[in-house]
Amino acid sequence: MRVYKRWYTRTVQTQADLIALAEGVLVKNYRQQPIVLERGRGCEVWDAAGTRYLDMTAGIAVCGLGHSHPRFIARVTEQLGKLVHVSNLYFNDQQVLAAKAICDHSFAKRVFFCNSGSEANEAAMKLARRYQAVVAGAPSRTTFVATTGSFHGRSFATVAITGQPKYREGFGPLVGPVEHMPYGDLEAAAKALEPRTACALIVEPIQAEGGIIVAPPGYLAGLRRLCDDTGTLLIFDEVQTGMGRTGRWFGYQHDGVVPDVMTLAKGLGGGIPIGAIAASEKAAAGLAAQAGGAVPHASTFGGNPLACAAANAVFDIIETEGLIERVAQAGDYLGGKLADLVAKFPGHALETRGRGLLRGVLLSGSPAPVVACCREQGVLLSIAGDKVIRFAPPYVVDRKQLDEAVAVLHEVLAAGVGK
Ligand SMILES: Cc1ncc(COP(=O)(O)O)c(C=O)c1O
Repeated sequence: MRVYKRWYTRTVQTQADLIALAEGVLVKNYRQQPIVLERGRGCEVWDAAGTRYLDMTAGIAVCGLGHSHPRFIARVTEQLGKLVHVSNLYFNDQQVLAAKAICDHSFAKRVFFCNSGSEANEAAMKLARRYQAVVAGAPSRTTFVATTGSFHGRSFATVAITGQPKYREGFGPLVGPVEHMPYGDLEAAAKALEPRTACALIVEPIQAEGGIIVAPPGYLAGLRRLCDDTGTLLIFDEVQTGMGRTGRWFGYQHDGVVPDVMTLAKGLGGGIPIGAIAASEKAAAGLAAQAGGAVPHASTFGGNPLACAAANAVFDIIETEGLIERVAQAGDYLGGKLADLVAKFPGHALETRGRGLLRGVLLSGSPAPVVACCREQGVLLSIAGDKVIRFAPPYVVDRKQLDEAVAVLHEVLAAGVGK
């Protein structure tokens, strides 16, 4: 008889053991930093060797409340003991309330829940196709218009609309037709939409993975006008910019421009996986079931009570702790500090960009060694695009912590790393 070692019951593993084990059992798609994170509190995390790090990544713009927020733990734990999953054969209270919270805080009238940002964008794409085919009576409008430099996910459809060829290599044939146009260029958008073959145009209010590039003033408003003129649905991918990250509830609110559909994930669940599309009444008809017809789109896990309780806790805590205002203030402070830093390293740190607590520093050289050195000095940062160091800390970050993170980056740049 085969005897299995019960690895998962072993609580004592050294960090080196765990990394060696990972080398043998995980698919080698990622390039993890060589630490095993074990616990966190607020903006700090600790690895399996007991080393403390200041976390400026928040799990790639996810953990807005920080790690182990006591009220978040209490609410999610309470829900765990009550009801975790029932499927969408039935309503569940947490899903209905989370949908209401999204509608109350945005333009949206209807919400569909899924489990990730890719799934949310995938659902939005299906909505757009079916909206044109079934609601607008224009089944030949099948093209997706997206922007170069964008990032919309890793599923087949979302990797096809992602405007960075490196994510598509080796995966063809891809979902299409897709047309990419330069971000920020309204003339190009007018040209792409003019033939009226597009079902939807999808765009991020800030291109996050593309290098923290904020939409130029008037761009989103211009896209809204062009979409209205041509009968194209306008989708804002707010997977990274939504839920307070930019100092407003949603990125589009800085521009006062309302999309037909908005996609959410990341910050929505405070770390519990959840995604959503939020749509106007008109656009939501694209996914509505027809009398006697099949359910046009669905997800087994989407909108489960646990994930939605987490989203409800996120809304509650952001609101009661004034975290949107805090993001705006902390973001201004961080933006100022990064601008000072850029001024000190001409030719090496080229510019700073971003909004709220989604900020980047563009380097002339490679950011990977900079991130590695900062980690060795106790600060976790991530990379956006090819050359940008990204700051996306939890919303609860304080000035002292921002000072500490920027001081470490300063030290690393001063040593000439990544030049
Ligand atoms: C703007 C944007 N859209 C979509 C995604 C994909 O989300 P997920 O990784 O949850 O599928 C991301 C992830 O970084 C993102 O930044």
